[in-house]
Amino acid sequence: MTHPAGNPLDLRAWLDTARQLGELKDVPGADAKLELGAISEMNVKIDGAPALLFDEIKGYPKGFRVLTCSTASPARLSSILRLPVEHAHHALVQKLRGLPRQWQAAAAKYEPVAVEKGPVFENIQSGKAVDINIFPSPLWHEKDGGPYIGTGCCVVTRDFDSDWVNVGTYRVQAFDSNHVGLDMIPGKHGAIQYEKHMQAGKPFPVAIVIGCDPLGYLISGIEVPFGMCEYNYIGSILGEPVQVVRGELTGLPIPAAAEIVLEGWCHPGDRRKEGPFGEFHGYYPGKEGDAPVVTIERVYYRNNPIIVGSPPAKPPNDYSYSKAVMRSALLFDALLAAGVPDVASVWAHEIGGARMFNVVAIRQRYAGHARQAALILNQCGVGAYMSRYTIVVDEDIDPSNLQEVMWAVATRSDPEVDIDIIKRGMGSKNDPMFVTYRSDAPYNSKAIIDACRPYDHLHDFPAVAEASKQLQAAVREKWRDLLKL
Ligand SMILES: Cc1cc2nc3c(=O)[nH]c(=O)nc-3n(C[C@H](O)[C@H](O)[C@H](O)COP(=O)(O)O)c2cc1C
Repeated sequence: MTHPAGNPLDLRAWLDTARQLGELKDVPGADAKLELGAISEMNVKIDGAPALLFDEIKGYPKGFRVLTCSTASPARLSSILRLPVEHAHHALVQKLRGLPRQWQAAAAKYEPVAVEKGPVFENIQSGKAVDINIFPSPLWHEKDGGPYIGTGCCVVTRDFDSDWVNVGTYRVQAFDSNHVGLDMIPGKHGAIQYEKHMQAGKPFPVAIVIGCDPLGYLISGIEVPFGMCEYNYIGSILGEPVQVVRGELTGLPIPAAAEIVLEGWCHPGDRRKEGPFGEFHGYYPGKEGDAPVVTIERVYYRNNPIIVGSPPAKPPNDYSYSKAVMRSALLFDALLAAGVPDVASVWAHEIGGARMFNVVAIRQRYAGHARQAALILNQCGVGAYMSRYTIVVDEDIDPSNLQEVMWAVATRSDPEVDIDIIKRGMGSKNDPMFVTYRSDAPYNSKAIIDACRPYDHLHDFPAVAEASKQLQAAVREKWRDLLKL
């Protein structure tokens, strides 16, 4: 369904869809302090687990809710991406192939549309009345530095010297009734815009959307090109523009049906200790850091507001599945854009947080093809940050199947010639291995493992000892009951 004045990114419309699909479960009575986080973390590890909508949260009014695990299944993810609902993982990956390229190419056509009113303005707190403690911000993990109101959120900011609006997902720690901390890693688009304001000694305007249609944080949490507004990219997926209202204070665009929005400023020099926080790779990397503080001057929220939570943890976690699917599609497109031919498939594994352990399968066409594919996968814009192991396999190996990938590594690579190391690559202070780095600058080293059959021995490489596809099909047909197919 399209909306005459654009799509307001209404979470509740998507919740109806998820409920109809049998993909949503109501959970009354949990405690926002640790219990809600642990339930979500354990739920997401169960095959076929639903999204969870927590209500009657201990100490908070009925109706003040938290949603988790929203993107963690093929059916939920395909419905969020407005694709035909897919219950099987491989079918979803197949449907997504090539789409990010098309969405990006068409994004300029989908400028957000501003309207005067929206459900987000049903309740407004202003000035001294601002109190974010009315919302059930979860303490997600035992060693976290405090409750985090923003995980599955969209942080809307504006550039200093252009009208570029960026929307990024950065965690938001609730400090007190009107202050939050914003953890933007250097180089992220929001961080670049923040730095420009600080260098000019000017306050940095921020509007933090704590919950809307999960398409919002799905896209603000991936690497949309520098200078492009995520609202345009989202509009391109929806096939209609995003409908926004303007924040009263900053004029920043906010989805008209957002659940909760915190609006305010980061003032020059105002930073506080932030974290630690359990991270997407499964560790608390380091101690608390130092992050910009947002002083909140307005809060807008819907009646019975819903926080969209997406807590990271040791994978698989709340968003590792959706990141694996989305980043694999982006990496596939990046390889094609760089001119690598005959890429069969790419998979950014959940075990590496969809960043640190990536595999590409190719149909080898020439000597050097395998190394080319692996190096570009490892170094392209979407792939370079925190990449550690990159493996290239032949097209008979399914790159998303770790058993097959490691069989290829064990049997088709010669460590002496098939492992290359790239030194001083793009790492992160968030890397658990940062403790061993010899420099304070976050370089890392990266290994490429060429687990393809050697190109110059394709003709005489030993044949695979496995029943042929035809034999398997015939036996499957005849022995269906025995083989439980
Ligand atoms: C749930 C979730 C939480 C995230 N938390 C952070 C964070 O705290 N800091 C950060 O820099 N990136 C975080 N990311 C990754 C960024 O959202 C991602 O790199 C995105 O591309 C940043 O937007 P930008 O490219 O516009 O800067 C998170 C992603 C997700 C999905």
